[in-house]
Amino acid sequence: MAKIALFGATGTIGSRVLREALDRGHQVTAVVRDPAKVTEQHPNLTVTTGDVLDPASVTEAARGRDVVVSAVGGGDGPGHLATIEPAAKSLVEGLRALGDEAPRLVAVGGAGSLRTPDGKQVWDAEGLPEFLLQIMHAHGDALDFYRTVSDVRWTNISPAGLIEPGERTGTYRTALDDLVVDADGKSRISAEDYAVALIDEIETPKHVGERFTVGD
Ligand SMILES: NC(=O)c1ccc[n+]([C@@H]2O[C@H](COP(=O)([O-])OP(=O)(O)OC[C@H]3O[C@@H](n4cnc5c(N)ncnc54)[C@H](OP(=O)(O)O)[C@@H]3O)[C@@H](O)[C@H]2O)c1
Repeated sequence: MAKIALFGATGTIGSRVLREALDRGHQVTAVVRDPAKVTEQHPNLTVTTGDVLDPASVTEAARGRDVVVSAVGGGDGPGHLATIEPAAKSLVEGLRALGDEAPRLVAVGGAGSLRTPDGKQVWDAEGLPEFLLQIMHAHGDALDFYRTVSDVRWTNISPAGLIEPGERTGTYRTALDDLVVDADGKSRISAEDYAVALIDEIETPKHVGERFTVGD
């Protein structure tokens, strides 16, 4: 059983991570801006107030935990630019304050920086709308930052090109920096199977200090 502090528990992906963690017997503290938004009730769930952009809030949430998970998002493009890399920096600063006692960090990333079969990156595709490019590059900037960090045990998990609520099959494929695609060239994962992969990584760490991606 791991003690997990979870930022973003009210979100599309974070709520699946919360459910998967609880179903597998982990103890979760949901760190949210508005506790009233957490409808889930479970003996292993505690809800506390916090803001991922406040390093002191991260330190407080992380103290005594095994893992901090961040599944935060910023809504639209400008919101992501104001949230994702700043959150990465706040998470790392907040964890550094705990020194050797700091838990590991597992953060939800983005697909934009992944390599495509033609050798380009997802964000190089023609015709992508500006808001989506902003979201992709917000995650790319956060990943660039994580890659400079060696004193905090971080893992960044990029979803497939498309992630949406769906079925929990319990199976998935992973890669490091290459987009996972199916036989039709499509890249997708259900939010439920993404959560399975994230909790698997917590239970059996394989990617400390690197990014990996999950597809079906
Ligand atoms: N294919 C892809 O690469 C792909 C696709 C989808 C999503 N994603 C990424 O996955 C992440 C999660 O996406 P999602 O769709 O689950 O997002 P979402 O439904 O919009 O949820 C975002 C969560 O972040 C929380 N949050 C935002 N700012 C916060 C702050 N300052 N402190 C604490 N919590 C904060 C929100 O809490 P409140 O309830 O307080 O607002 C909410 O729980 C995003 O970063 C998104 O870009 C990637």
